[in-house]
Amino acid sequence: MSKATDKKLLGRIAELREQLNTHSYRYHVLDDPIISDAEYDVLMNELGALETAHPELITVDSPTQRVGGAIAEGFAKVRHPRPVLSLSNAFGVDDVRAWRERIGKYAEQNLGPGFDATRLDDYVVEPKIDGLTVVLNYSDGLFKQGATRGNGTEGEDITVNLRTIKALPLVLRDGGRQTMDDRRQPKAHGASVTRHPPFLYVRGEAYMTLSAFKKMNDALLAVGEKTFANPRNFAAGSLRQLDPKLTAQRPLNIFCYTVLSPLPGAPDSAVPHTQWELLAWLRELGFPVSNISKRFSNLDAVIAYCESYVAKRDELPFEIDGMVIKLNDQVLAEQLGYVGKDPRGALAFKFPAREATTLLNDVKIRIGRTGNIVPNAVLQPVSVGGITISNATLHNFDDVARKDIRIGDRVIVKRAGDVIPYVAGPVVSARTGQERVIVPPTHCPFCETPLTRREGEVALYCLNDDCPGKLDRAIAHYVGRGSMDIDGLGEKIVVQLIEAELIEDVADLYALTQEQLLELDKFGDKKAEKLLAAIEVSKQQSLERLLVGLGIRHIGEVAAHALAQYYGSLDALLQAKPEELQQIEGVGPVIAQSVADWIAHEGNRALVAKLQHYGINPVQEVRRDAVPVQGPFTGKTFVITGTLSQERDGVAAWVIERGGKVTDSVSKKTSYIVVGESPGASKISKAQQLNIPMLSEEELRNLTGIKN
Ligand code: IVH
Repeated sequence: MSKATDKKLLGRIAELREQLNTHSYRYHVLDDPIISDAEYDVLMNELGALETAHPELITVDSPTQRVGGAIAEGFAKVRHPRPVLSLSNAFGVDDVRAWRERIGKYAEQNLGPGFDATRLDDYVVEPKIDGLTVVLNYSDGLFKQGATRGNGTEGEDITVNLRTIKALPLVLRDGGRQTMDDRRQPKAHGASVTRHPPFLYVRGEAYMTLSAFKKMNDALLAVGEKTFANPRNFAAGSLRQLDPKLTAQRPLNIFCYTVLSPLPGAPDSAVPHTQWELLAWLRELGFPVSNISKRFSNLDAVIAYCESYVAKRDELPFEIDGMVIKLNDQVLAEQLGYVGKDPRGALAFKFPAREATTLLNDVKIRIGRTGNIVPNAVLQPVSVGGITISNATLHNFDDVARKDIRIGDRVIVKRAGDVIPYVAGPVVSARTGQERVIVPPTHCPFCETPLTRREGEVALYCLNDDCPGKLDRAIAHYVGRGSMDIDGLGEKIVVQLIEAELIEDVADLYALTQEQLLELDKFGDKKAEKLLAAIEVSKQQSLERLLVGLGIRHIGEVAAHALAQYYGSLDALLQAKPEELQQIEGVGPVIAQSVADWIAHEGNRALVAKLQHYGINPVQEVRRDAVPVQGPFTGKTFVITGTLSQERDGVAAWVIERGGKVTDSVSKKTSYIVVGESPGASKISKAQQLNIPMLSEEELRNLTGIKN
C-alpha cells in the first residue's frame, strides 16, 4: 500500500468512526437523529468492510467493536473507587418536608452557626429509573471497564456486556473534536477544551424500555421459553449473560446521572460542582441523560413535580419507581455526609409500588361462568399500591407451567392502575427446594366431570352445564349491572342464598320470600323488603338485558341487541335455526353456534319456562331490517392464529361485536392477523408475503382504544 493510499484509508476510517459516533450521539443522547437507520447502516457497513480488509487498523473504541469476546465462565470482581451508595426513601409529601427540616437543622448544627439554610433550597429532580446501577470507568476518554453495583464496594465486571449497549459511549466526546452538529448544544459552565478528566467513573442505570421488554417477552413466549416478570429482571438477566452475543440481542439502554470519581467540585477536577451542570456536562461528554430532570428553587415546586409523575409515569417509555430529589450544590451535599449508606443530600420520592413479592401458599381452583377453570393463587397477604392482596389470578395452567410457578415459591405480584392483581412469576433465586410443582386437574373439583380443552385454547373447561361450581358466578352475572341490574344483590348475598339452599338457578330468585330472607345472617326487615322489591322490578327488564343475563357464551350487549330485535321474544328465539342465526347482522358463525347449542340444551329450555312462569317474558317488536353493526372494526377482516390468553372464540366474538369479521384463512382481504402463542406457520408466512400487519392480543385490544 502506498503512503498516499494509506493516508487516505486512515482518513476515511477516522471520518467514518467520527460520523458514526456523532450520529449515535444524536440518536441516543440528543434524541435528534439527522440520518435514517438505513443510512447509518451504510456507514457502519463501509467501516466494517474497511476494517475486515485491514484488521490491523481495528481499535477497541471503533463503533464496530461493540459485540465481541468469548463466552465467559464467570465475572471477575471489580472494586469501586468509592462506595456506591443508595438513597433514603420518602413515601409521601410529609417525608419530603421532614427530610428538608432534618438537613436544615443538621446543616445549621454542623456547618457553623453562620450557615444560610436557604442555600439548601436549590434542587434537581430526576426520574428514578427502575433498572440496575452500573459503574462505568473511562480512562483517557475510552471506556475501559463497567461493573455492577454488587455489595456497593465490589461489583462484577460486565464490561463486554455493557459495550453492547448502543447508547453507551465507547469514546467520550472531546471538546477538541467537536463537530458542526453539536456546537449548537449548550455548553457546561467552565468547560475547557478537553473536558474529560484523565479518569472518570460515571454512575448510571441500565434498563430496558417497556416496548423492548414486551417484544422480547413475546418472542420468548412464541418459542415456548420462560418469560421475564418485568423489564428490570430482563435487564438484569441480560447484563449477567455470560455470552455477550446474547446480551447484544437484548435491547438495553442506559441513563447516567452522577460521577463517582473524581468527586464533583473537588479541586482541580473538571467535574462541575452542581448537579444541574453535571448533568449537562455528562450529556456533552456523550452520556445519555434523562431530559425530564428539572431544577427548582423551592420545595413546594419539587413536590408538585414529583407528584405529577405519579400519573405521568405511565406515559414514559420506561419504568420509573419514583423521582430522585437532589441538592443542586454537590459540594454542600458532600459536606452533609451520610447516614449509613444514604447520602443526606438526596432523597428518593417513591411511587406507590405496583408490585411486591410474597409467598404463594396454595392454589385454589375457581370456575368461571362459562365453565373455564382458573387457578387462583392463595397468597400471604401483601400490600401492593396501597391495597392488601391475598389472592390473585394465575390465568391458566399453561401460564403456570411456562412461568414455572410452584407452591411455596416467593412470587412477584403485580397490580398496575385498576388492573386485577396477578402473579407475574417466581423469584427463582429464593427457592429452598421445598416448593411443589402445580399439577393441572383432570376433573372438575365441583362435579367430577372430566375437564375438556378446546382446540387452540389454553383454558380447561368443565362442560357440565349444571355444574354447581358455576352457579354463583352465573347468578352474579344475571343480577349484575349490565344484565338484570338487581340492586342490593352482590356476590356475597348470592353465595349466602346458594348456601342456604334458597336458590338453585336464577329463576329461584323470583320465588324468594320475606320470611326466607329474614332467616339469613345480617338480614333485617328493611333489607329484605328492598331486595324483594328490586327483584320484582327486574321482571320489567328488556329482552336484550335478559339475554345478556342468561350468560350464553359470547353473547354480549351487541349480539343480544341483534337477537332481541330479530326475534322479539324468548319463545321465538327458542325456535331459531343455526342457518338463520348466522345471517343476523352482528351475530356471525361463532355466536350462532353458541346460541344454537344453548337452545338445544334441555336444562336451558326448562330454565326459560321457569322464568316465564314467574312472569319474566319480555316481548318487543320484531325488526329484521337491522342496520349493520357499526363499530371500530367495521369493514375490517381478522384472522386469528395461535393460542391466546383466552378462548379464541371469545376473542372472535369480541371482534364481531365491534363490527369486524373473522375468517379462517389469510388472503388479500385480511386487514390484520392476530398472533398468539405457537401460531400456524403457513398463516404467518402468507401474512408476511402479503404484508399484512400482525397484532398481539394486547395490540388488538388497544386498536379500539377500549381496554377490555
Ligand atoms: S442517585 C448517592 N439518581 O435508585 C447517589 N439513583 O434507591 C444515589 N436510581 O441505587 C443514587 N435513578 O440504582 C440516583 N436519577 C437517579 C436514579 C437513581 C435510579 C437508582 C439507583 C440507586 C437507587 C436508590
